[in-house]
Amino acid sequence: MNIIDIISKKKDNKELTYDEIKFAVDKYMIDEVKDYQMSALLMAIVINGMSDDEIYYLTKVMIESGEVLDLSSVDGIVVDKHSTGGVGDKTSLVVLPLVASCSVKIAKMSGRGLGFTGGTIDKLESIEGFNVNLTKEEFINKVNEVGIAITSQTGNLVPADKKIYALRDVTGTTSSIGLIASSIMSKKIASGADKIVLDVKVGKGAFMKNLDDAKKLSNTMIKIGKRFNKEVVAIISNMDYPLGYSVGNAIEVKEAIDTLSLKGDIKFTKLCITIASYMVHIGKNIPIDDAFDMVVENLNNKKGLEKFYELIKSQNGNIESFKIDGNRYEIKSNKNGYLVNIDTLSLAKYVNSLGAGRKSKDDIIDYNVGLVLNKKIGDEVSENDVLGYIITNKQIDDDLIKYFTIENNKVDDYNIILGIEK
Ligand code: URA
Repeated sequence: MNIIDIISKKKDNKELTYDEIKFAVDKYMIDEVKDYQMSALLMAIVINGMSDDEIYYLTKVMIESGEVLDLSSVDGIVVDKHSTGGVGDKTSLVVLPLVASCSVKIAKMSGRGLGFTGGTIDKLESIEGFNVNLTKEEFINKVNEVGIAITSQTGNLVPADKKIYALRDVTGTTSSIGLIASSIMSKKIASGADKIVLDVKVGKGAFMKNLDDAKKLSNTMIKIGKRFNKEVVAIISNMDYPLGYSVGNAIEVKEAIDTLSLKGDIKFTKLCITIASYMVHIGKNIPIDDAFDMVVENLNNKKGLEKFYELIKSQNGNIESFKIDGNRYEIKSNKNGYLVNIDTLSLAKYVNSLGAGRKSKDDIIDYNVGLVLNKKIGDEVSENDVLGYIITNKQIDDDLIKYFTIENNKVDDYNIILGIEK
């Protein structure tokens, strides 16, 4: 077998076998296949696509490149959740304690933010003392004792995805449904959960820009799940606008607490309830309506909030000292009308440039930096109304109003949930 034949075969749009995909990935991991050869193969895949079998083989080969977490010592079914990534996406911080409060076990490995999307681990680290580096033993013990634990991804899970993802990032080969699906699902399956709920984002602030592609991605991931005997449900949700009212790290922890205290944004709360309900539905094997009732009850009686505080305490976080420092710079409307658009991506990039995110993996995050939105899409605004504010100790641009579109006519309201695939 040789890599040139494999590249040529894929270039000619012929289906690769398991052995050929295994050869390409394994040899790439030991540098016998070079970056330029893997790039050529990835580009042939992006152009010609992959069959269901090829996607399954790639997922399997990537899982086999590293360790698979053994969660068999956790009592009960473990349900995982994954978001394909979006701006202001603090969904995990609300959903996971809420689901754990319904007695479904949560053993969550999360990532840090890179690019315009934030990471759950960075957000949790804005709480003083919160330990995101649990040993395997601590992780499993906490899942059994508290019902929930969240830890940083270990270096040994799916190393092939890490290497291939970094190459895709710099070779224009990220936008392939098969590659995205196998990248996400290999990590989910290696993380050891029994069942998985996916939050597939679609819109201007997401990887998938239209609903058709989001459905294709969802169904591709569901099919991969089936071949590994994992039940998968995909919730497709709108990411045209920032999720909830904040973007940042500490500020998103505050928003998660507000949401669990019934003081959150309505659309964001609806998304959290929907994802949590499906996790409880598959985790407890109960009808979706019963799962929904249980989730809403635990939101209303604050059991979800109590579970979040319990999680923080169990991982040594100090919520009493939690505060957000920094100057507040208001963004004011320059006319009367309706707020019809917010340039989600540009605002996220701007907030990241102030220190909320990283440009390279060693950058240090300023947890205090953030954006708070006072107005939502469709709200009527008057000149000089405060649309939102930036929290930072740096000097800010005074033309941030350019990211907000105010027009005379009101826009139609939008749905946060765009579909459910299973
Ligand atoms: N998230 C991933 O983990 N992989 C991709 O390819 C895209 C989004």
